Amino acid sequence: MTKWSPKSWRNMPIQQVPAFPDQSALFETEARLASFPPLVFAGEARKLKKQLAQVAAGEAFLLQGGDCAESFAEHGADNIRDFFRVFLQMSVVLTYAGAQPVVKVGRIAGQFAKPRSADTETRDGVTLPSYRGDIINGIDFDEKSRLPDPARQEMAYRQSAATLNLLRAFAQGGYASLENVHRWMLGFVSDSPQGERYEALANQITETMNFMRAVGITSENNFALRETDFYTSHEALLLGYEEALTRVDSTSGDWYATSGHMIWIGDRTRQPDHAHIEYCRGIKNPLGLKCGPSLTPDGLLQLIDLLNPENEPGRLTLIARFGADKVGEHLPRLVRAVKQEGRNVVWSCDPMHGNTITAAGYKTRPFDRILREVQAFFDVHAAEGTHAGGIHVEMTGKNVTECTGGARAIRDEELQDRYHTHCDPRLNADQAIELAFLVSELLKKGVNRNDKQAVSA
Ligand code: PEP
Ligand code: CO
Repeated sequence: MTKWSPKSWRNMPIQQVPAFPDQSALFETEARLASFPPLVFAGEARKLKKQLAQVAAGEAFLLQGGDCAESFAEHGADNIRDFFRVFLQMSVVLTYAGAQPVVKVGRIAGQFAKPRSADTETRDGVTLPSYRGDIINGIDFDEKSRLPDPARQEMAYRQSAATLNLLRAFAQGGYASLENVHRWMLGFVSDSPQGERYEALANQITETMNFMRAVGITSENNFALRETDFYTSHEALLLGYEEALTRVDSTSGDWYATSGHMIWIGDRTRQPDHAHIEYCRGIKNPLGLKCGPSLTPDGLLQLIDLLNPENEPGRLTLIARFGADKVGEHLPRLVRAVKQEGRNVVWSCDPMHGNTITAAGYKTRPFDRILREVQAFFDVHAAEGTHAGGIHVEMTGKNVTECTGGARAIRDEELQDRYHTHCDPRLNADQAIELAFLVSELLKKGVNRNDKQAVSA
């Protein structure tokens, strides 16, 4: 294997590259980005890796979620806050049911670049480059907007910095304190079945907190009640941007991606001899790898050899995204191969990307298919004796109508009402909490199973 460097990916074949019209402007942007401060620190990425190692060992659960694509237009404090509170609600539901820590990782503060199935899009006889995410070009269907523009990378960097700044304040500054468990409820959720269920859980938590206060454990003297660890992640797709933010950690001498705590490799860019795997193998951050229907057991083991040669727990999260109808066919053989070879991984379920259909002219995802894929994912792990380690979802704190179904039963005809996504359809706040409750039931079953094993052992 050739020697790795932050730019060694440039010698490899590459998929999903935008056609920048002005290469010298691109290089100037990359050089400027390389001089900017890191967004995250190596020590934080190491801490996340340790927490993911706990997930790999079956002692914690991973919740990863956020926009399919962040956008410049939706950048605002309210959106970030609303996302964060739904995310906290989901995580409380999961923590309570699983009686395990929940590792919280947002698809946020850097999730801008999108892989596309075609390089161009044609409307009414006009063909233009496909939209590839706000970090590359604009979503409006006109020639100027669709032209890849390197200046957008600096916008994305600055938006990521501002988003991360607010998230750090929310996570560490008191907003995430368990004493606020009632306040995280959003107005439009509070009158739904999910709202009632959440309220009941929040009451139980408040009672427990009151008890703990009486025995002297309070949020003033216990930071775990007052603060939470929240991490960022995105797909490492635009490698020039990633390279510019790749830095040596002075304490270990290792290279880290400082664009986010965890980065993942998409299902379309995971060819073992190509650029994206080359870049990711050399950095020390926790990595995600999307696993879709075309991945064979041998192909997966080859990728694990490249990405986690030392078999370090927490380094690699395998994100299964097969679709409700295919997961039962594909997942067991991958899980078996990984288990047989003794590879330490986190198994997570992305029930979004294999369940996209078109209805009433919109890309959508039926909620029941999403639930079915999660259920099947848990069933496979229960049958194989492995840990269903997490979920990876596209969601928002807003009351959008992008995925059909759920307790409020969004119909195909209603998709047009509030369809705001810049890329794939997201769960709205109601649907996200409903999904968390479903997963909580599955986690409880797992807890019960483990208790029984402990008793009979
Ligand atoms: C995504 O996570 O937005 C994505 C494009 O996923 P995948 O690579 O699994 O298709
Ligand atoms: Co997506």
